[in-house]
Amino acid sequence: MINPLRGMKDLTFEESERFNFIIDTATAIAKRYGYGYIETPILEETALFKRSVGDSSDIVSKEMYQFEDKGGNDVCMRPEGTAGVVRSFVHAKLDRQPMKQKFYYYGPMFRYERPQKGRLREFHQFGCESFGEASVYEDFTIITMISQIFEALGIGFDLQINSLGCTTCMPPYKKNLVGFLTEIKEELCADCNRRIDTNPIRVLDCKNETCQSLLVNSPKLIENLCEECDSDFKKLTTLLDNAGISYEVDTNLVRGLDYYNKTAFEFVSNDIGSQSAIAGGGRYDKLVEFLDGKPTPAVGFAIGIERIIELVKMPESTREGIYLGAMVEDAVEKLFTIATTKRRETKVTVEYNAKGFKSHMKGADKVHARYVVLIGEDELVNGTVWVKDLESKEEKTVTLEAF
Ligand code: HAM
Repeated sequence: MINPLRGMKDLTFEESERFNFIIDTATAIAKRYGYGYIETPILEETALFKRSVGDSSDIVSKEMYQFEDKGGNDVCMRPEGTAGVVRSFVHAKLDRQPMKQKFYYYGPMFRYERPQKGRLREFHQFGCESFGEASVYEDFTIITMISQIFEALGIGFDLQINSLGCTTCMPPYKKNLVGFLTEIKEELCADCNRRIDTNPIRVLDCKNETCQSLLVNSPKLIENLCEECDSDFKKLTTLLDNAGISYEVDTNLVRGLDYYNKTAFEFVSNDIGSQSAIAGGGRYDKLVEFLDGKPTPAVGFAIGIERIIELVKMPESTREGIYLGAMVEDAVEKLFTIATTKRRETKVTVEYNAKGFKSHMKGADKVHARYVVLIGEDELVNGTVWVKDLESKEEKTVTLEAF
């Protein structure tokens, strides 16, 4: 027997119902906020992710499904959705259009991580990217949209927010931080030591407890923001307060992808174990430029579907459609004409074997049909069908034409 690869799984039965419900719910809400569907390829040039997610990020340096294709191109299975959407945005020259553009997408992402509960090598995201809006009102609107998605799915969450500043306030802060980190270098873990040179901001979200205790007194960017970033962050917190969306400011929230500036956020759940981030996102005003487009502010997020699949409160399933059965062999073929007609409007299950009454009733219940339609000896002779509404319990015998 051939098993799925480690960290990859099939989505079947009840899980696939849940998956579809999540996508349908999130899609309906994204559309209400003005987002249109975009689909980009799963395979992209490796350079795309190096330039966007960042060479020194764990995702690019350790976790890429990267290979040379038969034409000798350096390609990679997308580890996330934002880079491809931005590439597509620039490729279609949408950066030269004045209007704002908003896209939603969903699909598989690939990261060669160490698999554990909630951490897969192939997982699915639902994401949104909004282009052309520099106002922090858009950051607030996106956070509101995600909370409405989780509300509609019956999922509780904690929201963590931070500001990563901009090209004015981040560089002096970084310098300051490197100075602080260099002084405690000896006591920090090997990963942090490497990051001091490559990506010092990432030291802040190191999971090592010793490192975290040493970072308590580190300089905080939130206290060193420039006037504009500070004012935007204050506006965001006021808007969230007024909307009744609770949040926690986490000064160590830096996200694992390098393209963010200003607002960064994560939605976490306490009900799913250590891999608790169920959605993440933020502003990335420089990425379109990095990928050779015209400067275009942007903000977005992605939800991890597998992390919320068990948390979703599914709506009560109602009886639906028709179960068709024959009680004598000669009646079986009559069922197909009815099935084809009725399938134009509703779900139809056809039992191919002639069976007794009780057995059909059990079959109808199993597929959760609303109506059972049976043809027995009498019905066959009279050109009628026997119908029972399994909700109202009403039963009747009607002509084939009348049904
Ligand atoms: P991210 O935080 O890397 O952000 O991923 C978003 C979500 O995907 C996470 O919060 C988590 O729920 C889920 N996720 C990530 N890795 C795994 C994994 N190995 N197994 C299962 N679920 C996982 C991004 O990907 C950004 N592109 C989000 C964004 C969009 N920012 C702006 N626009």
